[in-house]
Amino acid sequence: MYDYFLGGKDNLAPDRTAAEMVLQIAPQIRIAAQQNRGFLGRAVRYLAEAGVRQFLDIGTGLPTQNNVHEVAHTIAPEAPVVYVDNDPVVLAHGRAILAGSKNVHIVQADLRRPEDILDNPEVRERLDFDRPIAILLVAIVHFLQESDGPEEIVARFRDVLPPGGHLVLSHVCGDALPDAVAPVTEIYRHSSTPIITRSTERIRGFFGDLELVEPGLVNVSAWRPDTVEAKRISEKYPDGYFPAGVARKS
Ligand SMILES: C[S@@+](CC[C@H](N)C(=O)[O-])C[C@H]1O[C@@H](n2cnc3c(N)ncnc32)[C@H](O)[C@@H]1O
Repeated sequence: MYDYFLGGKDNLAPDRTAAEMVLQIAPQIRIAAQQNRGFLGRAVRYLAEAGVRQFLDIGTGLPTQNNVHEVAHTIAPEAPVVYVDNDPVVLAHGRAILAGSKNVHIVQADLRRPEDILDNPEVRERLDFDRPIAILLVAIVHFLQESDGPEEIVARFRDVLPPGGHLVLSHVCGDALPDAVAPVTEIYRHSSTPIITRSTERIRGFFGDLELVEPGLVNVSAWRPDTVEAKRISEKYPDGYFPAGVARKS
């Protein structure tokens, strides 16, 4: 469904049908998904420019444009990027597209079991958690159910950050479109990845006591927009609200 919102070709008829149902209720979601992707690219560029040289991207999604390694490697080609996803289709596409790419690795693991990621031999071999690293949880935490303990899971990843490490996170939020929450949640309930919208304050809580870098927790399109288009969309769709932030451990 996300791929369909982004205008990709890697989606099946049931994905498209469900995505169209979502768009009937909340047409802003297409723009929000696209702007989330823009946020991801801007955040990675910001971090690479700030000297971060390792990236752990959990919930990487189907390869599309401006993938994390492409953005990071324009600034730091030597920076290892480890992608993690639990969807075999994502992994198959990713492996095919990334075959031969240097300093890019894909690991199959599940966010609901943080130790499977943190103790994974390939993760440990490629990434050094004693040096500044960015952990990306972009558009994935809303797939954690309440019974999974999302606060505890995200806290586990904050805990392993060294000083100078960063957490990048975005999360769908129903605050601006309260009437859309129940019907959209219902559509996703029938998908392989049910979604849970959370309030801005709960999303802020995922950053714990890390320090949010400027401009703080804001709509994806308002996070350091670097194009006229991003600024225009931010103003045109103020309720396509999808909070995002980048925070640093001191
Ligand atoms: C909406 S996509 C986000 C892609 C990318 N991070 C972005 O923001 O453009 C969410 C991805 O998270 C993955 N995912 C969902 N739940 C997961 C879990 N429990 N463990 C690992 N990956 C998961 C899905 O397979 C999907 O590829």
